[in-house]
Amino acid sequence: MTLNKIALAIAAAVCVSAAQAGEVEVLHYWTSGGEAKSAAELKKLLESKGHTWKDFAVAGGGGDNAMTVLKSRVVSGNPPAAAQIKGPAIQEWAQDGVLANLDSVAKAEKWDSLLPGVVANVMKYKGNYVAAPVNVHRVNWVWANPEVLKKAGVSGMPQTYDEFFAAADKVKKAGFIAVAHGGQNWQDFTTFESVVLGVGGAKFYQDALVKLDPKALNSPTMKKSLETFRKIKSYTDAASPGRDWNLTTAMVMQGKAGFQFMGDWAKGEFVAAGKKPGKDFLCAAAPGTANAFTFNVDSFAMFKLKDTGAQKAQGDLAASIMSTGFQEVFNLNKGSIPVRLNMSMDKFDDCAKLSSKDFVSTAKTGGLVPSVAHGMAISPSIEGAIKDVVSQFWNDDKIGVDEGLKRLVAAAK
Ligand code: BGC
Repeated sequence: MTLNKIALAIAAAVCVSAAQAGEVEVLHYWTSGGEAKSAAELKKLLESKGHTWKDFAVAGGGGDNAMTVLKSRVVSGNPPAAAQIKGPAIQEWAQDGVLANLDSVAKAEKWDSLLPGVVANVMKYKGNYVAAPVNVHRVNWVWANPEVLKKAGVSGMPQTYDEFFAAADKVKKAGFIAVAHGGQNWQDFTTFESVVLGVGGAKFYQDALVKLDPKALNSPTMKKSLETFRKIKSYTDAASPGRDWNLTTAMVMQGKAGFQFMGDWAKGEFVAAGKKPGKDFLCAAAPGTANAFTFNVDSFAMFKLKDTGAQKAQGDLAASIMSTGFQEVFNLNKGSIPVRLNMSMDKFDDCAKLSSKDFVSTAKTGGLVPSVAHGMAISPSIEGAIKDVVSQFWNDDKIGVDEGLKRLVAAAK
């Protein structure tokens, strides 16, 4: 080839990629230390394909704020290219006809064989892929500061609620806050669903909180769950209402508090701060839930757009989200585990390895259940209603357990 021809060929190649490069506006709510590092990996990946990332971050743990903003953007006919949407909400958006079909990417990349069936189902609407999953978070964890436990004379992580309350008493006596809690309704429910799972087991959790069976909801087991939940509150500090989850994790990190009930995005915070599991912080399944796993899968749905550059960018984003390289680096930062099957866990820490092992084993035993607090189980409207009731109960000690139970049953209807 002459120099001229080479120059022409290069120019043509540049033209093609420029024509196909697009801007992807990405709505997400990953704004804490560990989350921001993870989001940065996604951005880097997209930019490596020649596309532009337009950041649309809406702060607020659990994503409630982000979903409100998303609704107003879609209603005004100006959706972002991609949005962090998950669980049954994916189906609702797809039903509205606003989501792009990702089947061509999914087929080319063989998603059906790379994803656990339980996850693939959530990503599909009427058999077509409309969202791409990035991870599997486990929600039923308790985090602890080993130094605080040592000073309080607590040896090892509590396995049952009797052990937990005995440990919490010691931590309190030693002058620490026993339970770090952020009083926001998604955080209240994160603790509540772990309590229900620990008190009643996976089958009860499924009947009561997923199937919303009135018999299970209105039962002695649910009563016991509410009592246990309320008891946990007595170990929290007065400044808890309204506190963000990452500031709550920081209380454990800084040795102000002993325990926190939270999903493993909390590990992303510890890790982002340079803390090591087993040494600077401890992880364990919430009391009574070692044989169960509440899953929470983060995913991105793409909105239908006319611009062909943007469409190409959306496809590239979806494809690269499922790549092994991304699944590894993203989840190392995020605290979750890869959603893609058969990936090596060599680079992951012991908390992630335990999560990965339990994800596989609970899928076989029926212990794998969707997180209600994190939008994986029921329609967003009922989820909102029962979250409100549980938070009212948590916040107002004048609401007795029987009254709380009554309100829960009514909200689930
Ligand atoms: C999301 C996580 C996020 C957490 C806190 C959860 O619902 O799945 O990705 O880190 O909320 O915002």
